[in-house]
Amino acid sequence: MKRDKSHALYEKALNLFPGGVNSPVRAFKAVGGNPLFIERGSGSRLYDADGNAFIDFCCSYGPLILGHAPEEVTAAVTETVKNGTTFGAPTVLENELAELILNHHSYIEKIRFVNSGTEAAMSAIRLARGFTGRNKIIKFEGCYHGHVDALLVKAGSGLATLGTSDSAGVPDAYASETVVLPLNDREAVETAVKKYKGDIAAIAIEPIPANNGLLLQGKEFLQFLRDVCDREGIALFFDEVISGFRVDFEGAAGYYGIRPDLIAFGKIIGGGLPVGAYGARNEIMACVAPEGPVYQAGTLSGNPVAMAAGLAQIKACLAPGFYETLAAKTSGMAAGINDYARSKGYAFKVVHIGSIFWVAFTEKSEVRASAEIDAKKMTPLFGRLHAALLERGVYIGPSGYEVGFVSRAHSAEDLKTAEKAFCDALDQVFIN
Ligand SMILES: Cc1ncc(COP(=O)(O)O)c(C=O)c1O
Repeated sequence: MKRDKSHALYEKALNLFPGGVNSPVRAFKAVGGNPLFIERGSGSRLYDADGNAFIDFCCSYGPLILGHAPEEVTAAVTETVKNGTTFGAPTVLENELAELILNHHSYIEKIRFVNSGTEAAMSAIRLARGFTGRNKIIKFEGCYHGHVDALLVKAGSGLATLGTSDSAGVPDAYASETVVLPLNDREAVETAVKKYKGDIAAIAIEPIPANNGLLLQGKEFLQFLRDVCDREGIALFFDEVISGFRVDFEGAAGYYGIRPDLIAFGKIIGGGLPVGAYGARNEIMACVAPEGPVYQAGTLSGNPVAMAAGLAQIKACLAPGFYETLAAKTSGMAAGINDYARSKGYAFKVVHIGSIFWVAFTEKSEVRASAEIDAKKMTPLFGRLHAALLERGVYIGPSGYEVGFVSRAHSAEDLKTAEKAFCDALDQVFIN
């Protein structure tokens, strides 16, 4: 495969950006080699600067549920942009997107648009603190909530101890307001809640944890968190930046039928443009400025072009059978690969929910917590799988911890082709 142009562009980028990229995961650090520079995307396909085509399952890490450049989104963006890009004043498009969401989402009554998932999570945490008048946050190991200071925290030395910073530049004083616990561990939650009784503002969780592999939780664990929050006056915060509008129109809340107090959105909500949002019931949202004392603002928030893109994409998600079709496509491909891996005795499986999937190098029937991933074993195997898939025209995110996404644009034929590429690539990983 030719990569000369991508390599040259990356060499140049190394002098322009730290590590040559504008977001760390785009670098191929975890898999070796250099990132491909993408020229364009169309439907299920990505095309790089050297003219190589790939069936894309990265889908920009989640926003592209309709695939690349879907007609309705492209048309809405090009029409809207003619009227100007930003006014610093409300537009009807904000109303329309909010109404569309709120009319079809039973778990929030009001929404506030921001510009990224990070901003949404950061604002939701501030709101939880403002609403409860408490300081501490519980989060879970393996859940990512954007690069928010208070959430870039790893577990301290013992259960229920306060977290320590997971990034240079995050003061210990911030990290020490966060308690980091293992997923799927009720005892750890009970211990922490008891230890910091009356001082925990929120329990934050990706209800479908998809940033450290796909660590699917049982509904019972999520329900347990709901019950603890009710009992202790804690706000339950679902970070649905990935799962929102992805597994169901109502995200994981709707999928599991569990009511969080706060939800953060990102990715799909913006139709591929930079939009995030957070929502809650009226009583909580009434705390947000200018209605209430929790300050949060944004020059480009609710930007009309981004709203138009989101509106077009979200409308398409409401088509009858939309989520069922996506889930069936995903489980069909996963079953084909899993049957093959099983028949060959490979310690590998595709874990999936809705249209999200993860390639897991494991023999375990379930992986529910980050500590259950054998990183030493997985990293080199994933590196080989990633390279073998690229050679076969399949693009997935360049880290074994990233999940893949199936979009409306992936045809039955694409998925058959990809399934065969996965099976051949697995032979290369495990046999050669
Ligand atoms: C669950 C979750 N929350 C928050 C974020 C941060 O979103 P953004 O990258 O748009 O800031 C991400 C990003 O991947 C995410 O997956």
